[in-house]
Amino acid sequence: MSGTQWRAIIDIGVLVSGSGSNLQALIDTPDLGAAIRVVVADRPGIKALDRAHQAGIPTAILPWEDYESRSEFSTAVADTVEGAGAKVVVLAGFMRVLSSETVSRFPNRILNIHPSLLPAFPGANAVAKALAHGVKVTGVTIHLVDEEVDHGPIIAQRAVPVLPEDDVAALHARIQVQEHDLYPRVVRAFVAGEVSVVGGEVIWR
Ligand code: GRF
Repeated sequence: MSGTQWRAIIDIGVLVSGSGSNLQALIDTPDLGAAIRVVVADRPGIKALDRAHQAGIPTAILPWEDYESRSEFSTAVADTVEGAGAKVVVLAGFMRVLSSETVSRFPNRILNIHPSLLPAFPGANAVAKALAHGVKVTGVTIHLVDEEVDHGPIIAQRAVPVLPEDDVAALHARIQVQEHDLYPRVVRAFVAGEVSVVGGEVIWR
């Protein structure tokens, strides 16, 4: 057995609302140390669901409109993720804010990726906001989810320069190149226990 490295595989759930290119990056990472037990979508007909089906990953569609409140929707999401056995929740382009009760069901176990250098430009349309503001550098942030939008402890960031000829699509495409490299690295480190939170601060081992 010498030379063999044994590592636990951690069960995760991935939440999506759109194209799912970050989901694909996770699927395509063989040594992630995590098994995607379920992909949960807040709407039908999105490419992310096709990607999950292609990879043989179970999916659940919980249409936002079917729920009376954010709280009911969030509880259904959390029940679905837990029901699939997932211990860690990875938001990958998920466009809904989870209720604080749901966040507290997965304390420091929900990751999010955001296309700006937080705390700059939280919320929707972050790339357009960065361009409109005239920043010369933007980027990607991966953070733990807390009760506020795009706000929890920051795990990793990568800067992306804004070029004079950039429009939203071009800039977002360059940010996504970094996202697809960084998110699998961070998920791998996170499930391996290399990232912990002490007093609201992220410590890397
Ligand atoms: C990414 O840019 C991510 O940062 C943001 O939404 C986008 C999702 O893209 N939260 P995809 O669905 O993973 O392709």
